[in-house]
Amino acid sequence: MDKKLKLLTYGCQMNVADSERMAGLLAKIGYTLSDDIETADLILFNTCCVRATAEDKVYGQIGRLKALKRARPELIIGVAGCLAQKDGENLIKRNSHVDFVLGTGQSSEVARVVESLERERKHFVDTSNVSGEIPTEVFPVRGGTVSTFVPIMYGCDNFCTYCIVPHVRGRERSRKPEEIFSEVRQAVAEGFKEITLLGQNVNSYAGGMTFAQLLTAVDKISGVARLRFMTSHPKDLSDELIAAIANGENICEHIHLPVQHGSDKILRRMNRVYTVENYLRLVEKIRAAIPNVSLTTDLIVGFPGETDEDFSATLNFLREVKFDAAFTFIYSKRSGTPAASFDEQVADEIKHSRLESLMKVQNEISLAKNRLLKDSVVEVLVEGASKTDENIFTGRTRSNKLILFAHGNEHAGDFVNVKISQAQTFLLKGTVQ
Ligand code: SAH
Ligand code: SF4
Ligand code: F3S
Repeated sequence: MDKKLKLLTYGCQMNVADSERMAGLLAKIGYTLSDDIETADLILFNTCCVRATAEDKVYGQIGRLKALKRARPELIIGVAGCLAQKDGENLIKRNSHVDFVLGTGQSSEVARVVESLERERKHFVDTSNVSGEIPTEVFPVRGGTVSTFVPIMYGCDNFCTYCIVPHVRGRERSRKPEEIFSEVRQAVAEGFKEITLLGQNVNSYAGGMTFAQLLTAVDKISGVARLRFMTSHPKDLSDELIAAIANGENICEHIHLPVQHGSDKILRRMNRVYTVENYLRLVEKIRAAIPNVSLTTDLIVGFPGETDEDFSATLNFLREVKFDAAFTFIYSKRSGTPAASFDEQVADEIKHSRLESLMKVQNEISLAKNRLLKDSVVEVLVEGASKTDENIFTGRTRSNKLILFAHGNEHAGDFVNVKISQAQTFLLKGTVQ
């Protein structure tokens, strides 16, 4: 019998990849993906808890399913991912209409758990092994059309003092190169043109070769037209990796390099183990070796102890580095992390006003950088029609910038040259040459 699965995925790319794997396992026991929550036989949440807002969103959505479950008791509701790992049993205590909770180390058990619940209903919780084995055989049901994710490692050992990820994702575990290669080949055979290798910190890949060697090897796989990776921790982005990108054929000239803050005092308190000076020198080295490289980053405002002076240091740092784009976050207290009990928590109004100033400064920089591209011709991987207008197509440059252009006869997956006619803060517009 064909059963319907509604999958709700929150959080980062790692969760997207995990959801695709769970969808693959559930397909083997008869579940096909569906958009409709009302008629689903199984509703599965793959959750995030990196900030309180992420967590609230999930709890809000789970809460809204109470009535549906009452009307259709045969419906199975499951919660997997990082919030499931963090809250475990408590999640079911707060939401008795949830049938099962599966931690991050157990996601490959999802089909077994669902089958047993189909036979007999009772609450099931397993968050026992956060650093669980990575399955060697995977058959993801991939979303997207031209671009897809391949995880190369799980977990994080860095323990930045604000971050819950090491607690809910466990210790670093690397996949074997052969398994990664075979998954990449599988994705290429399915028609994907762009592969993004994923890990919380890809530089500490330890599957029997360095990350730079792995990247170079994947670059040689036939059919990988574009290769990306994320995320890189500045503390160990090696010269070898910079050279691999510079010399690579299809490795895109884009590095996402989260800095988090522009003051040494705060970086120390965050346990980031580099200084502003180290970071600036690294950027210089990258820019010297990889012309036209695009650099993006993550920043946190309102970390405990952040003074006006520390915050100004972040603004000055942004003006100096000139990132192409930055993801900016308000510090969110995560209980169980060291920073949650630090003194001098910053007041909410200050956090919000700092976020606003930060975004204003970065937006001006992003716009100025994009304007420099005006009249140049860039290679674009076509993604398809835009959400709002079927005559406008979208795509991405190698530097990972979104670009819009009038549709001619190109299709998703094609490479076209586009001349940039207009630059905005978050996107470019142009015409196909
Ligand atoms: N492993 C990656 C990203 C992990 S989470 C890395 O190290 O870069 C993505 C981003 O969320 C982080 O870079 C950080 O900027 C932000 N983040 C993590 N914990 C946070 C918290 N408690 N409050 C606000 N932002 C946080
Ligand atoms: Fe979190 Fe730091 Fe690990 Fe990134 S490197 S996941 S910010 S602990
Ligand atoms: Fe969120 Fe987990 Fe990713 S906490 S950001 S989904 S690793």
